Amino acid sequence: MSFDRSIKIAPSILSADFANFGQEIQCVEAEGADWIHVDVMDGHFVPNLTFGPPMCAAIRKHVTTVMDVHLMIAPVDPYIEAFAEAGADVLTAHLEAGPHIHRTLQAIRAAGCKAGLALNPGTGIEDVDYLLDMVDLICVMTVNPGFGGQSFIHSQVDKVRRLREKIGDRPVHIEIDGGITPLTAPLMVEAGADVLVAGSAVFKGGSVADPAPYGDNIRAIRAACTA
Ligand code: DX5
Ligand code: ZN
Repeated sequence: MSFDRSIKIAPSILSADFANFGQEIQCVEAEGADWIHVDVMDGHFVPNLTFGPPMCAAIRKHVTTVMDVHLMIAPVDPYIEAFAEAGADVLTAHLEAGPHIHRTLQAIRAAGCKAGLALNPGTGIEDVDYLLDMVDLICVMTVNPGFGGQSFIHSQVDKVRRLREKIGDRPVHIEIDGGITPLTAPLMVEAGADVLVAGSAVFKGGSVADPAPYGDNIRAIRAACTA
């Protein structure tokens, strides 16, 4: 996985057909997805439940791009090895998920994954200073994590701008996650984001039987950001 700041669209399979992840992933990749975003929720750190390492391992066989695993779980550390073995390319933990995020990020890299750090909308960027050289990606949540289809929180645009300045020329992606559409994505790209997670805005209107809308939706987001 080489580093660059080109715009990458990462459909979140939280909005896909849960009984058909393999084909859904093949369809969005064929329709132009750059990464596949996989939301793991534990019903404790966030008020929703999805799935764990065995599902990620099953999904992995269908991903030909990058499997970007977003852990919305607490604790994180006991599960890092299992998600690494399941084939996560990027493994992202929340700053708010425990008292030892520094250790968690070390463990993620030691397990052979790119290390991601996610920040809830209410979390500032002051605590990120000491972590900047040990992360490959910072995910700025633009909704409160737990569900797809929520509205974009505009205060996070300025946060991304300030984070981008802090990162400087380090090879660290800024990912944004939640409420991303052709209207909100360009604000974030202008502020400095390069990985755009989108669930409902990519999967709406399509299905594995009719995947063309996935491509239209992905192109609409990309076009809005490059206009
Ligand atoms: C929310 C998840 C997101 C979610 C985004 O907790 O982390 O990845 O799928 O969904 P949309 O794009 O519909 O807001
Ligand atoms: Zn996510």
